[in-house]
Amino acid sequence: MGNAVRSFDEPLLSPFDIGFGPTLPKRETVENGIAPADVYFSPERFDAEREIFSKVWLFAGRVEEVAQPGDWFVKDVEICDASVIIVNDRSEGIKAFHNVCLHRGMKLLWEPRGHNGLFTCPYHAWSFATDGTLKALPDEENFPQVCKREQKLKPVSVDSWAGFLFINLDPHPQQTLEQFLGPISNKLIDAPFDAYPRSASLTSPMDANWKLGNEASGEGYHVSSLHRKSAKGWALPEDNPHSHSLGWEQVGPHLITTLPSNPDFTVDLTARPIQAFAFMNQAQITSNSDDAPDQEAQPSFSDHPDLNRPKAKNWGGDGFFLFPTGQIGVFPNGWWFNSYWPVAVDKSRWYARWYFCAPKTRRQRFAQECMMAMYRDVLTEDNFSINGQHQGLASGALEQVYFGYPEILLRHMSGIMQAAVDNRLGGEPERLAAE
Ligand code: FES
Ligand SMILES: [Fe+2]
Repeated sequence: MGNAVRSFDEPLLSPFDIGFGPTLPKRETVENGIAPADVYFSPERFDAEREIFSKVWLFAGRVEEVAQPGDWFVKDVEICDASVIIVNDRSEGIKAFHNVCLHRGMKLLWEPRGHNGLFTCPYHAWSFATDGTLKALPDEENFPQVCKREQKLKPVSVDSWAGFLFINLDPHPQQTLEQFLGPISNKLIDAPFDAYPRSASLTSPMDANWKLGNEASGEGYHVSSLHRKSAKGWALPEDNPHSHSLGWEQVGPHLITTLPSNPDFTVDLTARPIQAFAFMNQAQITSNSDDAPDQEAQPSFSDHPDLNRPKAKNWGGDGFFLFPTGQIGVFPNGWWFNSYWPVAVDKSRWYARWYFCAPKTRRQRFAQECMMAMYRDVLTEDNFSINGQHQGLASGALEQVYFGYPEILLRHMSGIMQAAVDNRLGGEPERLAAE
């Protein structure tokens, strides 16, 4: 199969529904690849994005992070000033609560993750069980107005798909998670995510609008230029120098894309001995495992029927871009998620986590660290540049930006978010030509 961009199932301009009714993506962006520049710096549009984040399902983490009763982690949704505890309760299973003490609103948990049977507020030591009930408060007799058994941490909706946990800040979500994910909710259910138990995360604050980060991770057009020293060699096959998607699928507001790898890549042992050592001992996650002869055979995503639907020989991975932010990237030898979360119109937070197989040898363990350093360098190139891009756009010098035809993800991500925002702002909706 060639590198032509194509849809598996749907026409280019397909309606989506995030709980506000069927909406068409912005036609000018999806069909012509033109987007207005102010989507990156308009305070009014950012306020509408805040409303959207407060009503749709948001990817929060993995079930492995709360594998045992008492395990918990905190997911902050800064655009909504929200902080959410996700916890495994022994009798009720996985629950989510606002990370807000019922006494006088103090942030209850300050660490990112942990294991407790009881959450104790640092301010006046009210304490709560993992099912949210108030268990104890000092000087209790002087709070006659507080009935302990009626007091429960404020709940947040939580649900899961294929081991991925999602939360919804709306007290009455417009859609179930299954409705929100549509046909994606039937994909990857039995994929071998648990074969990659070793993970490492990177995060950093960004001086840029959150959509710029997602757009950088949604196109390979920049790899031969921005990553010419760090990633071009292993990421770009000779016959696909601009990393055109090998296939794509729109699933409501979400998108799946298939990416190439470079099966002919070899590292120069003399010029880059450490990187060569790493590639010999740990299959690069976007390559087939026989690239690393010392690595033992292990379960792989390569043969999963939901992945690599174009059946590309040089399959580098599938990216699942989930509205409103972030992608799950599933590769032949591992996976990651990469997301840029809005904080303010010109501030965001980057968060990524890579998953590797359990190392069998010290050499493989060392090689995984080398791989992480390599990915860190690549993403640092992205993030540093994106901050400069935001500055340029926020100057107001440009009226519009351009997406190439193969940058199908960018055209859709932008077209869908623009339409969702226009919908909240009461703009004129797009119509199908036949209407
Ligand atoms: S605010 Fe939490 S105990 Fe007072
Ligand atoms: Fe990049």
